Amino acid sequence: MFKIYHFKKLLSTNDKAKNFRENSVIIAERQSKGRGRFKRHWSSSNGGIYLSIKLTPKIKEKINFLTIIAALSSLKAIKNTYKIETKIKWPNDLVYNKKKLCGVLTKTHFSDKIDYVIVGIGINTNNQLPKSLKNKAISLKNVLNKKIDNKIIINNLLKNFEGYYKEYQNNSQKLEGILDEFKTNCETIGKTIKIRTLKGTFKGKAVKIDDDGCLLLKQKDKFKRIVEGTLIY
Ligand code: BTN
Repeated sequence: MFKIYHFKKLLSTNDKAKNFRENSVIIAERQSKGRGRFKRHWSSSNGGIYLSIKLTPKIKEKINFLTIIAALSSLKAIKNTYKIETKIKWPNDLVYNKKKLCGVLTKTHFSDKIDYVIVGIGINTNNQLPKSLKNKAISLKNVLNKKIDNKIIINNLLKNFEGYYKEYQNNSQKLEGILDEFKTNCETIGKTIKIRTLKGTFKGKAVKIDDDGCLLLKQKDKFKRIVEGTLIY
């Protein structure tokens, strides 16, 4: 289903993917302007996995699920290939020993004329991380002390993504299976967290992930539903 395009260097695979047909996968060996969520920079030196998938989903109300699918597909690819158990830090980070190994950036482009979504995935594999990220991020090479085979991870990841995406396209009103898998692998529930959102920073206990993949935060006497944010534990 997916057609892969490979580049040595791009500004950002997410931007490049916009010019391609649906179901194209853009892969770069490095990015000079890799982007993270909330306009952050994504460190993208040689050796890491940087890819973006262009999709035209039939149902547009559950786009959150595409991020969930990307996180689960990456988690499984890492587990299948290297037997490394990562956890999902809500909503989309994969962490190992509390350090970030993978991030997902999903951008929707919906208007009268265009209708597509770009799902970007970055995995720290063989890339050297800057010293400034020493306490926050980790690479698979550092976890395993050996060179990582990006090709095997990418192939496995795309195979997983295809399977989940078919389920999404055919049955997006009934996505409990995917959500259950996400919850099982998510380490956030039960923790007292601080979450930074565009509307401010909130503190509380993460008690539930709802049917749309949103996080329910229990604050003293009320619940707050968080659609998007960055967790600080
Ligand atoms: C995050 O955790 O903030 C999301 C990081 C997403 C990084 C990937 S790398 C491939 C794609 N291209 C980009 O510029 N960003 C995403």
